[in-house]
Amino acid sequence: MNKPTDLARIDHHDIDTNVSSNEQFSTVLEARLSRRSLLRGGAATAASALLGAIGLSGCGGSDNDDVVTSPNPPTGNPPPAEKLLGFTAVSKSLADTVVVPAGYTASVIYALGDPLTANTPAFKNDGTDTDFENRAGDHHDGMEFFALSASNGPATTVNDRGVLVMNHEATTDEKLSSFFVHANGGTMSLPRPAAEVDKEMALHGLSVVEVRAASGKWSYVKDSAMNRRVHQQTDIELSGPVRGNALVVTKYSTGGTKIRGTLNNCGTGRTPWNTYLSGEENWSGYFTRAATDDTARGNDKSVTSLKRYGRDAGAASRHGWETGGTEDKYQRWNISKKGTSLDGSDDYRNEMNGMGYIVEMDAFDKTRAIKKRTALGRFAHESAVFGKPVAGQPLAVYMGDDSRNEYIYKFVSTAVWAAADAAPGDRVATGDKYLDSGKLYVAKFNADGTGQWIELSIANPLIAAYAGYKFADQADVLVNARLAGDAVGATKMDRPEWCSVHPGTGEIYFTLTNNSNRRVEPSGSSQAAPDAANPRVYTDMKGTTAQAGNPNGHVIRVKEGAAGSTAATFSWDVYLFGAESGADGAKVNLSGLTADQDFSSPDGLAFTPSTGICWIQTDDGAYTDVTNCMMLAGLPGQVGDGKKVSLSYPRANGSNLAVDTYVGKAATADTLKRFLVGPVGSEITGIAETPDGKALFINIQHPGEGTAAANVADPTKYTSQWPSNAGYGAGKRPRSATIVITKNDGGRIGT
Ligand code: FEO
Ligand code: CA
Ligand code: CA
Repeated sequence: MNKPTDLARIDHHDIDTNVSSNEQFSTVLEARLSRRSLLRGGAATAASALLGAIGLSGCGGSDNDDVVTSPNPPTGNPPPAEKLLGFTAVSKSLADTVVVPAGYTASVIYALGDPLTANTPAFKNDGTDTDFENRAGDHHDGMEFFALSASNGPATTVNDRGVLVMNHEATTDEKLSSFFVHANGGTMSLPRPAAEVDKEMALHGLSVVEVRAASGKWSYVKDSAMNRRVHQQTDIELSGPVRGNALVVTKYSTGGTKIRGTLNNCGTGRTPWNTYLSGEENWSGYFTRAATDDTARGNDKSVTSLKRYGRDAGAASRHGWETGGTEDKYQRWNISKKGTSLDGSDDYRNEMNGMGYIVEMDAFDKTRAIKKRTALGRFAHESAVFGKPVAGQPLAVYMGDDSRNEYIYKFVSTAVWAAADAAPGDRVATGDKYLDSGKLYVAKFNADGTGQWIELSIANPLIAAYAGYKFADQADVLVNARLAGDAVGATKMDRPEWCSVHPGTGEIYFTLTNNSNRRVEPSGSSQAAPDAANPRVYTDMKGTTAQAGNPNGHVIRVKEGAAGSTAATFSWDVYLFGAESGADGAKVNLSGLTADQDFSSPDGLAFTPSTGICWIQTDDGAYTDVTNCMMLAGLPGQVGDGKKVSLSYPRANGSNLAVDTYVGKAATADTLKRFLVGPVGSEITGIAETPDGKALFINIQHPGEGTAAANVADPTKYTSQWPSNAGYGAGKRPRSATIVITKNDGGRIGT
């Protein structure tokens, strides 16, 4: 969820705890170099970039013979003969329905509460349902499709059967309670009843659910042996450098090797060996800490860490789960130092250090351990996306930290890629090989259109001698990656959300959803001045409400240096700036978006391998007076195909702040189109396709957000009644759900 610009909504998401004094680019603009000399090659047309994409996914890559693509979606598809983006753009919409282009159909297949075993009762959707450990969780988010063979293993050419694996990020709540899943709206004061807490804990986590198409109609399989829920009582291993470290010792795991649950899972990824990756995002809000806890901890360095990750002393938890009872499963949400041990083995003072990772799961085998890959760092993770694997080279994984003014990261594996590891085998062991050892880097974007990856190593003098926090070892650097990023002067970004790799160019695209704390003249440590990579500060009106900072967000893209995955330098530009189409083209609508293209707050983003289309999904609160959230289809070019744009901001003292940025080649009506608009109150998220690209699965998260909990018994006062108004399921309470989009003529999605 993500409604930072809508003050009426509770915002658990858009926290800013980065008070570091990293240099802003406004102070180094005079050192700007000639960008032209640093970017190789001329402008590529969207068509040529697309041909590259098709060449790779469709034909094995004529110039990339050592590139091994993930087995699903497979190589071997014929490139689409149809015109890409041949559909008619969808108009902006405030209707309580999913709108798709003419010739397409969107169908609901898996919604909050749907039973996942033969014996689980049908979902009544009146707040009396229980047993959510065997039902779909809430707030469907990032998602991947794994095609299934007849023996329930990975398949490369199956297009009518697979498992959808998805994140259940959160719940729609007000004053502690997830009110739509409780009969009377639930308890909105402390203590929370155990039965309500149990239900809410089970609603968070992951789903594995089998889906099938029969005669072209998709549905989920209620009694599939593949179905699985991961929730807050599921054992998960800590893997990599942090495993066994003093920072993760708890009463539950005195050896610091495991934790229960994965929490607030947002973006996803898939490994080249066909496992699922899930990013733990806004987990810190679920923990409480006593007002006296700084003193109890002796004001040691753990206090610095807790504050940097959003838990000041006295912080209240989002749901009050710690008040559910004396049992350990409730008490663990109180991370105050209560015990007398020196190492934390008699309380949960270190529990929060077990959240905030990229989690790897083998969706084909529920007997195998789920592992938190700590080498990839601890922050508010979104997606985790691999650069193109090259045999004999280390793998690179790209990631963003979604809070205001946080950073972009890259993990580079110690092990070099062996193409044989893409073949079916021990996938968890393969994960151990590539994801438990490597180097973590943070991004610094320079004013001249270049950038650096700075290694977050205990051996880096800036980290070893950092005055703000005394790192003990490399595990400490990983657990406190934000503090390490502060130490090396990483660039504060406008909330990094998802990333994805262009299948043709290999360039990495990152959504920067918005930043209400970007200011020409920052006031206080939580605000940051505009810089080349986050250049816009403007006012966007929502009715009579002035929205400040960068309310509409942008999509930045990175081209690695010649060394590829191990490159220490890169070049970058901005693929698209979100804006209203009517906004000032010289200051705000820098990408020249038209009414068929305009959007705000990009969040989900993924290239689908079958077509190479770049899908952009929004989680917006800034433009929702005009349109519900949406999904667009784009055919981007490449870094450097556009132009430099100079912005100038007047300061109070009469001087001007000059900020140059680099905007990609403007999209045309043929290279960017709105494809879908969702129901009222929802965000659009999750992108997964069948190998043939003829079924596209996406998630509709939190329809009906904005409904007052007091109105839970009065459907006429819900802001949305989706998906019951689309004919799906009992009751009228709105439900997060997965939809499948198909083309009526049987063609690929996006053509
Ligand atoms: Fe869960 Fe940053 O979106
Ligand atoms: Ca507006
Ligand atoms: Ca997101």
